[in-house]
Amino acid sequence: MQREITGQTTIIGILGHPVKHTFSPQMHNAAFDETGLDYRYLPFDVDPGSLQKAVEGIRALKIAGFNVTIPHKEAIIPFIDQLSREAQLIGAVNTVCRERDLLVGYNTDGAGFVRAFKELTGYGPAGKSFLLLGAGGASKAVSVQLAIEGAEKIIISNRTGKRGKELVEHLKQNFVDTECLYVPLQGSELTRISNSFDVVVNTTSVGMRQDDPRICPPEILSNVITVCDLIYNPAETTLISDAKKIGAAHMNGMGMLLYQGAEAFEKWTGNTAPIKTMRHVLASLTR
Ligand code: ATR
Repeated sequence: MQREITGQTTIIGILGHPVKHTFSPQMHNAAFDETGLDYRYLPFDVDPGSLQKAVEGIRALKIAGFNVTIPHKEAIIPFIDQLSREAQLIGAVNTVCRERDLLVGYNTDGAGFVRAFKELTGYGPAGKSFLLLGAGGASKAVSVQLAIEGAEKIIISNRTGKRGKELVEHLKQNFVDTECLYVPLQGSELTRISNSFDVVVNTTSVGMRQDDPRICPPEILSNVITVCDLIYNPAETTLISDAKKIGAAHMNGMGMLLYQGAEAFEKWTGNTAPIKTMRHVLASLTR
């Protein structure tokens, strides 16, 4: 049941621009209701030029925590007080907690992906080899977390070589125990190395539109154990249907969306997130 807002209600928010399409308020308010916590989650549309003022406002209002979304995930860093290790390595923040009057930035996107991956497979990234298609913000979040959790190998494949190679260099500099390499995003190149990865992860936006081309040739999936697409709308991209056809384990981006929220919930409240309720809300919003 939804609690009445009182003088003691703890306020959590999300800063984004635009913010009206986010599912997070429904997901978190349902989670607060389910756990009986006296918390409310509100959307705040913040223009890029007003971000510093918004953070000052959050300090003044003693708001207990918030999510950060496009376009503020990187821009917020100079305005907060501390960064967790993964947020520092990813160079972006999606969750902030007020801890002893300091604003501490975290990034739960990569951890959210890994939790969804563990739920699907029953094991973690340790000792596994990953091919990540794309080298943008999502790829950086996922690859950093995979390396933190002991992935044996990370292959980054990107349309723009410079961006892909820069991400590989960043990973190499920070994770000596994970083998990191770059491969151009071309069918022939991916086919050439198709024996050297266990998991494929699409982090690009290719597959969101019906007329998008395949992000990779289906043949490269034949030795793969697990196929992941970070896209959740549509729920079944061509990559996921290719994975289904060959009987590979597969997941879309819904699990990452759910678990990045669960990780944030747990940081703000100290309580275990009510996964079933949060999953149910997301499913109903994306149906
Ligand atoms: P996000 O934060 O969602 O990762 P991003 O940082 O803009 O978004 O990164 C988008 C990724 O999708 C990049 O790897 C991009 O490739 P480029 O670096 O070459 O731009 C990739 N991407 C987007 N559209 C693509 C397309 N049509 N073909 C291949 N890759 C594409």
